[in-house]
Amino acid sequence: MRPISGNIVILTGAGISKESGLSTFRDDDGIWATVRIEDVATPEAFQRDPEGVHEFYNARRQRLVGGGVLPNAAHQALARLERNWPEDVLVVTQNIDDLHERGGSENVLHMHGELLKVRCMACGEVEVWPDDLALDLVCKRCHVAGRLRPHVVWFGEMPFFMDAIERALSECTLFLSIGTSGNVYPAAGFVAGIERVGRAHTAELNMEPSQGASLFAEARYGSATEIVPAYVDELLSGRL
Ligand code: APR
Repeated sequence: MRPISGNIVILTGAGISKESGLSTFRDDDGIWATVRIEDVATPEAFQRDPEGVHEFYNARRQRLVGGGVLPNAAHQALARLERNWPEDVLVVTQNIDDLHERGGSENVLHMHGELLKVRCMACGEVEVWPDDLALDLVCKRCHVAGRLRPHVVWFGEMPFFMDAIERALSECTLFLSIGTSGNVYPAAGFVAGIERVGRAHTAELNMEPSQGASLFAEARYGSATEIVPAYVDELLSGRL
């Protein structure tokens, strides 16, 4: 088989940030083991208990900006791949942390939004917001109070950048899925779409087989900080 060339699309999930100290969702010690999705990650939850939802995201934001959470070798390897690969490398992340960017990746699409951004429900303005959110805060653009929400995609809402993502998936020759359990659509369906077209090589790099494991042409299992740098080294040296 000729060495892989062409555009690369990399889907990442919470598993790539686990070794940086951030919880995943569905591992035994994951977020959904202690908090119900219906209570904190739906528009109805925000309608019913905005303070409780703000509290949930404030705790995660404080953890992320607190200083102890840094990008790990897997994030850094993907940035190295983007810098040294002759064609496009796009990271499509389900994660709302900023560790890909802090690890050096520049071509990143946050399809589930970003924990460090806020959106005004009155005027639609999105702005960086590393501090706590509360009910009475005023939008810096329209000056309306009490209409700011986390710029995060909740269950039942449409993910962001889907047109750009579908286009990149249709043009790539390599699709990597890293650190995701393959439970949540549309991200979980990307590999099936690619396999149907048959243009790209697909590989899953995860701690354990995901829900969609059987759909991938290749799989490597282990810790992201070990298997991702190794895979990137093989790609860059033409051994894949
Ligand atoms: N290295 C590699 N993979 C890991 C590691 C690690 N150190 N630790 C955990 N994993 C794997 C787990 O085996 C699991 O398959 O990462 C995956 C994490 O899966 P989830 O917790 O389901 O997280 P994710 O797939 O990102 O969830 C998708 O669900 O709740 C929503 O919006 C939320 O974006 C999230 C979406």
